[in-house]
This record gives sequence, C-alpha cells and structure tokens, in this order.
Amino acid sequence: MNTIQIAPSILSADLGRLAAQVELVVAGGADMIHIDVMDGRFVPPITFGTNVVTVARRVTDLPLDVHLMVAEPERFIEPFADAGADIFTLHIEATHHVQRHLAAVRERGMRAGIALNPGTPLRDVEEVIRDIDLLLVMSVNPGFGGQAYIPASSAKIARARVLLDDLDSPARLEVDGGISRETIPSAHRAGADTFVAGSAVFSAADPAEEVRELRRRCAVTV
Ligand code: DX5
Ligand code: ZN
Repeated sequence: MNTIQIAPSILSADLGRLAAQVELVVAGGADMIHIDVMDGRFVPPITFGTNVVTVARRVTDLPLDVHLMVAEPERFIEPFADAGADIFTLHIEATHHVQRHLAAVRERGMRAGIALNPGTPLRDVEEVIRDIDLLLVMSVNPGFGGQAYIPASSAKIARARVLLDDLDSPARLEVDGGISRETIPSAHRAGADTFVAGSAVFSAADPAEEVRELRRRCAVTV
C-alpha cells in the first residue's frame, strides 16, 4: 500500500491570498497542491490557466497536481509543462487517442494521470493502465467544489485498487470530490492512497490542522 498523500485543491482557496493559503497547507503537511483547470466546455465553469500554475510554482516546491477538466486536454500538455506542472491528469471522456497523449505527457517530464467521471466505467481505462502514473476516480461530477461524496464511489475505488494491483501497477489511486473528515475513511478503506480536498480544507478555521486531521482519519480502522 502506498503512503497516504493529501492534495488540497486551491479551487476553494482565497485566491487573493493564494501564496499565504498554499503556505498554510504546506505547514499542515500537504503532499501536493491540486489545481483544477476548467474550460467552460467540458464542465460549465472557467477557472485557472497556466498563469496560476506559474504562481503556485513560485510559492512551493511541492508537486503541482494539475487536473484538466477541459475538452481536448492534449492541446495544453506543452503549456502546462512549461508552467511547472508535475502531474497532468486528463479526463478519458474529453479526448480521443488517449494512449498517445499519456505518452506525450511523460515525454514532457510530467507524471501522467487519467480521470474518470462517476458515470464512466473502469473498463474504459484498462488498456492504458501501464501508461499512467495516477488514476483519478471522481467521487462527484466535476465542475464545482463543495459537492457531496457519491457513496458508490467507494466500491468503484475498491475495484480500481484490484485493477491496479492485478497488473502490479505502481500508479497512485486518487479520489477527488466531497472528501472530508467524514468521507475519507471510506475512500481510504476502499484502497485510495491520494486524497484531494478543497472545501474541507479551505473552509476550515485552521486549514493546516484540517490537513493533519484528514491524514489522521485514514489511520483510524473501523
Ligand atoms: C471538482 C474538482 C475538485 C474540487 C473538490 O470538480 O475536481 O478538485 O476542488 O472540491 P471539494 O473537496 O470541495 O469537493
Ligand atoms: Zn480536481
């Protein structure tokens, strides 16, 4: 089992104080910073572009975990690599020729991630498991922070764990959406090792402490 990694999502941060907000979660022991890129097409809102990755890169040495919720994400491999992204996660629903694009991500020196919406079956990524460094199981429909964790996600995570283990894949298994003190134990028990949390962290009175608490909740066995 991989070590647990907590990835606060700056979607819910106070962007006017982005540097200070990132420093807070770094102080809490965050393992990476999750950056949600939305284009107004694949999902309704428009959020961040490469400029935000450039700013985050200046603020922290932690890996930048960039989640592309955009149509044809392959158009942005070069710019995000140049901006300093460490992980480039694209949605399987947003592109064709996914195997080629995952290879291009790695060629640019980034780790390659693939994300699945809640309605997308795991079998859609089976043939590219060896081409990825991270599998992202969405536990909400992407587009907005603050949504409720879809309970069926835990069973899907468990099946994803089996899929990765059967192929001896070292890829990380990430879960994103509705992760909180209450929901993280279920996702962890199911086999996730990397946890994105936006509103739970940045709406907390003490974001640094919330990162620590999320990690502690994974250690609780029920
Ligand atoms: C949702 C984004 C998430 C979002 C999670 O589309 O991909 O990363 O920031 O926010 P919470 O943790 O509030 O569900
Ligand atoms: Zn995300």
